[in-house]
Amino acid sequence: MILVKLGGSVITDKGRYRTFDRDTAVRLAKEIAASGESVVLVHGAGSFGHVLAKEHSLHLGITQSSQLMGAAMVMSDVRELDLEMSRCLTEAGLSIVPLPPASCAEMSGGDLHMLDAERFRRYLELDMVPMTFGDVVWDRRRGLSICSGDQLMMRLAKELRPDKVIFVTDVDGVFTADPNLDPKATLVETVDRMVLDSLPRTERNVDVTGSIFAKISYMIEMADLTDECLVLNGKVPGRLEAALKGEDIVASKVIGGVK
Ligand code: IPE
Repeated sequence: MILVKLGGSVITDKGRYRTFDRDTAVRLAKEIAASGESVVLVHGAGSFGHVLAKEHSLHLGITQSSQLMGAAMVMSDVRELDLEMSRCLTEAGLSIVPLPPASCAEMSGGDLHMLDAERFRRYLELDMVPMTFGDVVWDRRRGLSICSGDQLMMRLAKELRPDKVIFVTDVDGVFTADPNLDPKATLVETVDRMVLDSLPRTERNVDVTGSIFAKISYMIEMADLTDECLVLNGKVPGRLEAALKGEDIVASKVIGGVK
């Protein structure tokens, strides 16, 4: 089984509130179906989640009742994105089962405290494709908090031990600097803890679920739980399908610390 995260930056326009990139989503759905691989899917929230979540400071917990309406709006927006994604994937021939974190997970102080992984297992055994996503989830200490796609990826990697983990983004992989700002930025083919420590710490556009460093740090930890962990560009046609099939592609390979 291959665990795949479709990042919010690849399936939405992160700069424009609630903008779904249907063309990319349809193509990625076809690539997943064409690979013939058994997958578990996680998708990010992109502009269906981050914009309002930041506006209402949902990542800091609930301290004012006015935040509850913001939380409800984010919950309905990310469900709408999930429905769009589910439709693209079922039309491509995949038997998708949406598993919203608000209904199968609990947070504690911003950490993912519980995820009912057994549910994912059952649907997988039935040859269906479980899919979950970044959401607003009940938090035993903060009332509510944001559950990111990366936290879900980590837990699912621990519980389901996938053969491979793939992060689909809108850039070719991990770069030595922000490729959108620095023309000299180069792709890092193999990413490990040493590489992470050497990267410049830009705090530009940090979203509610943390900086790129937090994300790479998660990936390094996850790399120990699988045979291969890749970060690739889903905006380039064919890359996801090739990676799922085990072919060589342009990507960053993430290496853990234990192996
Ligand atoms: C964010 O999830 C969830 C919300 C803001 C509700 P992610 O952190 O996984 O989303 P992307 O991939 O960065 O868009």
